[in-house]
Amino acid sequence: MTQQVSAAQTQSADSSNPKALYGGKSSRRLTVRDIGLAKERGEKWPMLTAYDAMTASVFDEAGIPVMLVGDSAGNCHLGYETTVPVTLDQLTMLSAAVVRGTSRALIVGDLPFGSYQEGPTQALRSAMRMVKEAGVGAVKLEGGERSHAQIKLLVEAGIPVMAHIGLTPQSVNTQGYRVQGRGEEAAQQLLRDAKAVQDAGAFAVVLELVPAELAAEVTRVLHIPTVGIGAGPDTDAQVLVWTDALGLTGGKMPRFVKQYADLRSVMSDAAKAFAEDVVGGTFPLEEHSVH
Ligand code: KIV
Repeated sequence: MTQQVSAAQTQSADSSNPKALYGGKSSRRLTVRDIGLAKERGEKWPMLTAYDAMTASVFDEAGIPVMLVGDSAGNCHLGYETTVPVTLDQLTMLSAAVVRGTSRALIVGDLPFGSYQEGPTQALRSAMRMVKEAGVGAVKLEGGERSHAQIKLLVEAGIPVMAHIGLTPQSVNTQGYRVQGRGEEAAQQLLRDAKAVQDAGAFAVVLELVPAELAAEVTRVLHIPTVGIGAGPDTDAQVLVWTDALGLTGGKMPRFVKQYADLRSVMSDAAKAFAEDVVGGTFPLEEHSVH
């Protein structure tokens, strides 16, 4: 099978650069300043979601420099159909666990639906909880021009913000799950949204499900890093939901997901092997027993 290899795929860990986000030498907790410097160096970086301490510790040991405690926890961890029901209490608890499980990665806590839409004051109250109770290094919220005032107040208060434009899953009831930014008018709106979040002080912006050419243009125009998911190979960073990337999520995956492992089969086989041992009397054996 012939595979097209993008520039992003050919770039590997830069062990010659001790400051590299992935493959670098620093073992201290990374900050948004490190993320900004990576864009100046033209360095690409990976981000994964995480929802618990143990999984996060694996990704931290693997060198993943940024982890997002996304409200995708709704679908991937808490058993909801969408991200809409997820609460600030839930994401604060999961974020605190991810912070406890890691020592190097910058942890970004998502602000869930209903925790910042009322306005800047509500956003600040919610983000303060994430920073003080969970210990995250930054928060993420959805929306471009419409979230300008929220982002500005958070940044003025000293809370780094990752913005999220394009497909914004918290708006599923008005937007659906459709590619965003197709056509001249929609593309212009996406560019306005990108500039608005940068102008408000966001340190990075997620571009979800937008045409690759448009994501490349946004990445050229902005001085803050773009983090793509379904946005082609030319964004500064790439994010995937960890359960999709490692093959734990069941069912059909969106086209933009690359599956790096098949954890669902690994776990299912292990569970069946345990059950068969118990039923067949081959576990526990003498070596597993105490006397
Ligand atoms: O909640 C999430 O996991 C996200 C990523 C898909 C960017 O917002």
